[in-house]
Amino acid sequence: MNNSESSSYTISQVGEADSLLLEKIAWLSIIAWHGQPTEEAVATRAKALNEEIAEAAALSTTFFVARHGDYVVGYVRLKQCREYPSLFSWEALAVHPDHRRRGIARELFARSVEHAKAHWGVAVFSETHLDNEPSIALHRALGFRELGSFSAPADGDKKVGFVLPLGTPMVDGE
Ligand SMILES: CC(C)(COP(=O)(O)OP(=O)(O)OC[C@H]1O[C@@H](n2cnc3c(N)ncnc32)[C@H](O)[C@@H]1OP(=O)(O)O)[C@@H](O)C(=O)NCCC(=O)NCCS
Repeated sequence: MNNSESSSYTISQVGEADSLLLEKIAWLSIIAWHGQPTEEAVATRAKALNEEIAEAAALSTTFFVARHGDYVVGYVRLKQCREYPSLFSWEALAVHPDHRRRGIARELFARSVEHAKAHWGVAVFSETHLDNEPSIALHRALGFRELGSFSAPADGDKKVGFVLPLGTPMVDGE
């Protein structure tokens, strides 16, 4: 595990399917979207995450978590495109509601960019729902360029796409 300190948060790369850590990530990913983290919901989400991590080795997906003491308070995955390995996508970002606006997403992004650059990345893509104002503000603050809106093929949700060519300096604050 490769750690870095940001104020009271520790950012780590998740390299193996540790079951307790998976449950903590599952719990966070449910409450970040205002869901009920029942035992059953956490177990189901943890199982899906375990499968994602198993699949990750083949797809060159890297997971980063932010911890505050024993708690997982932030999570993101960075996927390297199999066909175009110099392209990366930034997905499933979630920060605990009580720990927002403290720079956790910014720090998870910095670690993701560092990783992408170390693996010859030339651009990071991302997308979010068109009505997700905090997420859109975050992408702008991180220096992403908007690619326009579209309907997601899977569910028809209205989304907006972003790209950050690597080498573009990250904007501090907004
Ligand atoms: C979007 C989200 C990940 C942001 O995480 P965060 O750790 O609070 O973000 P940061 O503290 O790193 O914010 C960095 C910058 O982004 C912008 N930003 C982040 N949240 C914002 C908000 N609610 N309103 C306006 N700007 C915001 C700001 O410019 C902020 O810098 P500042 O605090 O110095 O002004 C978090 O709100 C979240 O988990 N939301 C629910 C899940 C979600 O929407 N995930 C994204 C899907 S793509």
